[in-house]
Amino acid sequence: MQILQNKKIVLGITGGIAAYKTPELVRRLKDKGADVRVVMTEGAKAFITPLTLQAVSANSVSDSLLDTQAELAMGHIELAKWADLILIAPATADTIARISNGMANDLLTTICLATSAPIAIAPAMNQQMWHAQVTQENITRLSNRQVNIFGPGSGEQACGDIGMGRMLDVSELVELTCQFFSKNKTPDVQKAQQKLIEQPCIGQHWVITAGPTREAIDPVRYISNHSSGKMGYAIAAAALQAGAKVTLISGPVTISPPENCDLIQVESAQNMHEKALEHGKNATVFVACAAVADYRVANIAEQKIKKSAETMQLNLIKNPDIVADVAALTNKPFTVGFAAETQDIEHYALGKLKRKNLDMIAANNVAIAGQGFNSENNALTVFYTDGKVEIPLASKQNVAQRLVSLIQQTYLKQVN
Ligand code: PMT
Repeated sequence: MQILQNKKIVLGITGGIAAYKTPELVRRLKDKGADVRVVMTEGAKAFITPLTLQAVSANSVSDSLLDTQAELAMGHIELAKWADLILIAPATADTIARISNGMANDLLTTICLATSAPIAIAPAMNQQMWHAQVTQENITRLSNRQVNIFGPGSGEQACGDIGMGRMLDVSELVELTCQFFSKNKTPDVQKAQQKLIEQPCIGQHWVITAGPTREAIDPVRYISNHSSGKMGYAIAAAALQAGAKVTLISGPVTISPPENCDLIQVESAQNMHEKALEHGKNATVFVACAAVADYRVANIAEQKIKKSAETMQLNLIKNPDIVADVAALTNKPFTVGFAAETQDIEHYALGKLKRKNLDMIAANNVAIAGQGFNSENNALTVFYTDGKVEIPLASKQNVAQRLVSLIQQTYLKQVN
C-alpha cells in the first residue's frame, strides 16, 4: 500500500514565489496515494493559476470564503473536517502571523481555525523576514501549539540574499509528509529533521586554515603578513554553529578560537601544509582562508644574523601550495580557496579557481580600507560552477555565515 493511501490533504498555497513549485508538490503527494484539495489565497493567485492546480489535483480549487457556489460544493467547514492534514506551502510571513494570531479573514486561515486536523507549514520568505523577531515569535507560538514546521531551508534566495527562508524542496516536503503519517516514527523523525534544518552541517568535518604563516629568517626574525585570523576564525565559528565538526589549522594570531573546535597551531607554510594534508584527507569541506607565504627562506640562519653590509640578500624558495595539494587528494574534500587581490579581481580569482582545481573561491579586494586583512569587516565575491554570488560588506561573522551557507548548499548539490 502506498504510504499516503487514503490520506486527505488540504494544501494551502499562499503568495510567495515558491508557489510555482506547488503543482509538482500536488503531483508527488498524489503519486504516494494522497487525495489533495487545494486552497489558495489571493496572493497565491498572483504566482500560479487555480486552473493549473485544479488540473493536477483533479479536484476543484477553493479560493474564496464568500463564494456561494464553492460553499455549496464543499464549504469551508466541510473542508476543515475532511482533512487529515492541512499543509501550507509556501507559508508566507503574513499567513504565519495571521494563523498564529487566530485570525480568520480569508478561506485558508478560517479553515485552520475550524479544523481539528493537524497543521503543517512550510515557511518561505526572505532571510531577514525569517530572522525578524516577530516571525520567530510566531513560529515558536505555532510550534508550541503542535503545528508542524517543515523547514525552511537555507541558500540563495529569489531576491539574491543568502540565508534561511527558502521553502524546502518538493521531495523534502513529500518526505516530511510521509514521515508525519507514519505514526511510529513521527516524533523522532521530525526532531531529527528539525535538527538537520537548524544545523545542516551535522555529520560533516570541516578543516579550515586561518591566519598568517611565519617564515623564519633566523632565530629572531621572520617573513609574514597582516592576516589577523579573524575571517578564518569566523568561518570556523559559523561552521560549528551549523553543526559541523571543525578542525582549525591556524598560523600565529592573538585572537581566541571558537569553543569546541579542534585547534592546531602552526608557524610556517610547511607546518600548515603537513597538517592540512593530514586532516584534509578525511574532511568533507576544506576552506583555505590562511594568508600563506608563497616563499620561504632557503637557508634559515642558525644564529641571529649580524648587521654588517649595507645591503643584504635573502634567497627565497617557493612554498608548497596547500590548497592545491588538498584539492589534488584522491578523495578530495569540497575545496574552497580565498583570493586576496588588489586589482582585476575576477580575472585572478578565476585563474586560481581553475589552476588549483578548487570547487569554489571567495575573492576579497584587499586594497579597500576597512575590509580584508586585519579589519572587522569584509566583502566577498564568490565564484563557483553555478556562477558568482556577491556577499556585501558586513562584519566578518555575518560574511562567514553567508559563506558557510553557500558552501553547504553547493556541496549538497554536488553530492546529490
Ligand atoms: O585574517 P584576516 O585579517 O581576517 O584577513 C582575512 C584574509 C584577507 C587573509 C582572507 O580573507 C584571505 O583573503 N585569505 C587568503 C589570503 C591569500 O593568501 O590569498 P592568495 O590569493 O595569495 O592565495 C590564494 C589561495 O591559495 C588562498 O586560499 C590561500 O590560502 C591559498 N594558498 C596560497 C599559497 C600557498 N602556498 N598555499 C595556499 O594554500
